[in-house]
Amino acid sequence: MASEGDKLWGGRFVGGTDPIMETLNSSMTYDQRLSEVDIRGSMAYAKALEKSGILTKGDLEKILSGLEKISEEWSRGAFVVIKSDEDIHTANERRLKELIGDVAGKLHTGRSRNDQVVTDLRLYMRNSCSVLSAHLLQFIKTLVERAAAETDVIFPGYTHLQRAQPIRWSHFLLSHAVAFTRDSERLGEVKRRINVLPLGSGAVAGNPLGIDREFLRKELDFASISLNSMDATSERDFVVEFLFFASLLMIHLSKMAEDLIIYSTKEFGFVTLSDAYSTGSSLMPQKKNPDSLELIRSKAGRVFGRCSGMMMILKGLPSTYNKDLQEDKEAVFDVIDTLSSVLQVATGVISTLQIHKENMEKALSPDMLATDLALYLVRKGMPFRQAHAASGKAVHLAETKGIAINQLTVEDMKSISPLFGTDVSQVWDYANSVEQYTTPGGTSKSSVTAQIEQLRELLRRQKDLF
Ligand code: ARG
Repeated sequence: MASEGDKLWGGRFVGGTDPIMETLNSSMTYDQRLSEVDIRGSMAYAKALEKSGILTKGDLEKILSGLEKISEEWSRGAFVVIKSDEDIHTANERRLKELIGDVAGKLHTGRSRNDQVVTDLRLYMRNSCSVLSAHLLQFIKTLVERAAAETDVIFPGYTHLQRAQPIRWSHFLLSHAVAFTRDSERLGEVKRRINVLPLGSGAVAGNPLGIDREFLRKELDFASISLNSMDATSERDFVVEFLFFASLLMIHLSKMAEDLIIYSTKEFGFVTLSDAYSTGSSLMPQKKNPDSLELIRSKAGRVFGRCSGMMMILKGLPSTYNKDLQEDKEAVFDVIDTLSSVLQVATGVISTLQIHKENMEKALSPDMLATDLALYLVRKGMPFRQAHAASGKAVHLAETKGIAINQLTVEDMKSISPLFGTDVSQVWDYANSVEQYTTPGGTSKSSVTAQIEQLRELLRRQKDLF
């Protein structure tokens, strides 16, 4: 059994902790990532303690220089973790005592690890949100600029994964970019709710030393102060919101990945992934697999698991801090790491993707213009329902004759409706077809160009927000 003498809370204990319980209880292997923010929070708290007369100027100087030294040890990789370090907060305080002696024991006055850990996590996540936002904006920019460079490429648009209508390749790229801008906006909202100071809430009841929380807020650059100490120490809404933001982003990424996996098959042949984002088969020499996209797709499941896992942990917890909350950090760190690599790989995939215009054009077939044929009749005054039926008859007639719909003669067409004339030949042009969709949001060149401009503007604005 380990001795309790060196534990922060050892005073009331006579028996030791079971070694397996000690391992289960420890968060040290992963919460080391909070070392820097933990020190930052402690420095601010020490200054506030000096302001409220708990620390002398001399005490404060000693504590700050001790914390500075510990920070430097962490950054050099020289900090030695010992077995009794239960978590990052205990480890830093233990080391502070080794460096500056008993005055270190004054630092935790009126503070609890309950308000300390959630302050650390908020500081850490606030910074991570900015890093992730930069990756996300870069990714969206890559999609938008690729769309701008390839507006003339036309290929099939699918619904139910069946050929539907011709669209611009750019329109497809932008459809994904638009979804990612919602993710980016959502991340900004999440960051706003992360940016609230819980320090000064203590364990449950608040702070009894008249600590200046407004001073702490300014020191740690938070936008506001939490309203209620019981809520502040236990709420992890910001964690769930972050994990949900991440899950939805991953769903969008995996949808795009799935589209591109399908488009990269020999059967479609629309795109080829660069070697940098593919791998080969150990058995079949000809294989080039889209592993980057498959990994993006699979990580969506992983991230969603973290999100639902966290909600399961929170469900049914009684008020205020419970040790269950220690689980939040692994979920957050794992999701931050996953998003960071996935976004950078996705950016790489899009910027190096090769497209095969000829195959895209070849995949367009005249039957995809059946809607246009109906519209031709609508423009001549026929109600759409009748026009739809007439065009359907033309599809059927071509099928029974074993020819493409655009091979039907004008006489064939006239047998379906007298409104058909020789000008029907104009319908059989894919470039003309896409150019009809000039309404905002459509696939015409003018509309796609307007979308690109709006997205560029939105990216400029969102960059300024982070
Ligand atoms: N390691 C703990 C966590 O991550 C810190 C808070 C511990 N608080 C407590 N009352 N035991 O949540």
